[in-house]
Amino acid sequence: MDQDKQSSTPNAATGTSRDGFTSSFGVLAATLGSAVGLGNIWKFPYLTGTNGGASFLVVYIIATLLVGLPVMISEIMLGRKAKADAVTTFQKLAPAGQPWWLISASGVLAAFLIIAFYSEVAAWVFAYVFKAIGGAILSSDPKVTSAAFKTLISDPVQALLWQWLVLLLIGGILLLGVAKGIEAVTKKLMPLLFVLLLVVAVRSLMLPGAMKGVEFLLAPDFSRLSAGVVLTAVGLAFFKLSIGMGTMMTYGSYFRDNQNIPTTTLRVMGADLFVSMLAGLAIFPAVFAFGFAPGAGPSLLFITIPAVFASMPLGHVFMVVFFVLAAIASTGALLSLLEVPVSVMSGRLGISRKRATVINLLVLALIGSGCALSNSTLSGFTLFGKTLFDLFDFLTSNILLPLGGIFICLFVGYVWGLARLKQALSNEGALENGRLVRVLFVLVRFVSPLLILVVMLRGLGVL
Ligand code: TRP
Repeated sequence: MDQDKQSSTPNAATGTSRDGFTSSFGVLAATLGSAVGLGNIWKFPYLTGTNGGASFLVVYIIATLLVGLPVMISEIMLGRKAKADAVTTFQKLAPAGQPWWLISASGVLAAFLIIAFYSEVAAWVFAYVFKAIGGAILSSDPKVTSAAFKTLISDPVQALLWQWLVLLLIGGILLLGVAKGIEAVTKKLMPLLFVLLLVVAVRSLMLPGAMKGVEFLLAPDFSRLSAGVVLTAVGLAFFKLSIGMGTMMTYGSYFRDNQNIPTTTLRVMGADLFVSMLAGLAIFPAVFAFGFAPGAGPSLLFITIPAVFASMPLGHVFMVVFFVLAAIASTGALLSLLEVPVSVMSGRLGISRKRATVINLLVLALIGSGCALSNSTLSGFTLFGKTLFDLFDFLTSNILLPLGGIFICLFVGYVWGLARLKQALSNEGALENGRLVRVLFVLVRFVSPLLILVVMLRGLGVL
């Protein structure tokens, strides 16, 4: 059968009735929906802006290939093989008595911590959709947009309500299931996201003076590179591709048996990079055209961007479009994050998906509040000199995800082995991809884990 033509029965080969993605396009939409998120619209632009533009981009792309690709393929492959939640996957695939499932247990913890702060950034984005419509953030003076942003994040009631609203929305979609919830929603939203982003990028590129922004993104200045910049790029690759904590493993368990995993992964990576580039092309030409600074940091999206849009003709409309597409992007990513603990809980404790979703939402409303209130009520509460918001971001990106990535590579490289890797990635011999598999094997055995280790130690300040 042609790999990319769809068969509508999930997991036809195993004959199980497990919920899963039903078409090739559905697999792509859901997986890309996980990868594309605030990482593209918020993190990628501000990190590129503060780390020198094109040279950062080049390193980021190399990191994506050397670290992102092998870990992502490994996760999806293991998930599809076991067809179970992330914890059960390792219990099924690892030799008896070896505690590899701890990778997924730490992944569940990482999921909670990421959702806790991610849902708050998403909350700001959702709030901004309405503020943009109402015109409240429509000012070309960054002092005004900055004051509007500070008012939003320092109001505990607004911060909490918007976050809980986002969590309810995500939980509601997950209740519908994998095919009818995640797949159906991302299939509709991802094409829309592309169109909207394209519209904003074209608008931005048509501004007089836009070329300076394009140059910033495409003409590398390697004198800006340092060890720190390289390592930031590797960390971003992890966060961007949703790897290192069992998200892709969980989605892999919903892949169809005839899905070509390496090809799908490459497509998702390519499309994700394309979205990041489009976001960069939507943002930087406009930033330069109106004389703003590209290196504003995390507030670029919430302070600089509104001021940039307010400066251009028809900016009001484009600002609304831009925050709508950011809200869409964060939705697909949050779905994949929450799916990890929901599937583990219902799989391990044998409770219904509905009950698992509700319990997880309650726990998250609690943990998430700590991040929502990091800029108001709890701003004085710090651990290791960081607010809960910053601490959760730091802990996951610098410790939990890289650690997960290292152990996933080690598992595939040293426990799983080349023979099973070949078998699983060729769909039991149906695909001719032996050379790619051998390259991948070298990466997971030697290159990727070492590279990640360096990133992690640098992130912890050990190196
Ligand atoms: N990749 C998403 C983004 O770029 C965020 C995300 C979703 C994620 N699932 C994840 C990050 C799992 C790390 C791990 O916004």
